[in-house]
Amino acid sequence: MRVQSMLVVLCVMLLALVLGCDTKPAQTQPADTPAPEESAPEVEVEPEAAAPGSDVSAAAAETVEAAKETAAAAAETVSAAAENVAAVAEQAKEAAADTLSTAAESVTAAAEEAKAAVAEALDMAAAEAVFTKNCTVCHKADKVEAHAKAGLAEEPWDAVVKEMVEEKGAKITPEDQKTIVAYLEAKYTN
Ligand code: HEC
Repeated sequence: MRVQSMLVVLCVMLLALVLGCDTKPAQTQPADTPAPEESAPEVEVEPEAAAPGSDVSAAAAETVEAAKETAAAAAETVSAAAENVAAVAEQAKEAAADTLSTAAESVTAAAEEAKAAVAEALDMAAAEAVFTKNCTVCHKADKVEAHAKAGLAEEPWDAVVKEMVEEKGAKITPEDQKTIVAYLEAKYTN
């Protein structure tokens, strides 16, 4: 009976110990750490966070200001570059206009020369026809070729034509005589 009651008391004490151990840490843990530690850092963190926060925003404002300045400088550079491009384009336009008008003048001059050359060739062809018609009736043109090589110093073309008309009986109009003389002078110019 005594031993049994002692055991019961022991058991009760053990239970009390165990409960005490369970409650003690349970009481200390929430009482010591979570409640004060959580509330204390929260209060401390707020001013700490507020101070660096204002520094950061000031630094950010400076950065924004610097970025604005950079952007303004870049805008100036871009507008200066745009002015340069416009000036270069103007110069290129003027140069192209000059080149075009020069080319147009060259084309006009070339067309003029070609026209003159064609007219001259036509005149020569017409004159040659007059010569052939009037001067190869009584002899061949080789007489004329021979005279061009040997006799021009002694007797020029106007004298030859005059001789053919007045002395040899060639019947050539005064106009054709002039054409023939001009043709022979142009063809056999020394
Ligand atoms: C009516 C005929 C006749 C006609 C047309 C004629 N000739 Fe002659 N030509 C002669 C006779 C004739 C001679 C002298 C004979 C010979 O040398 O064969 C001659 C000679 C010549 C000679 C060589 C004389 C020399 O001094 O070298 C020449 C050059 C010549 N003729 C050029 C012409 C020319 C140019 C014409 C055209 C304008 C022409 N003849 C038209 C009859 C003609």
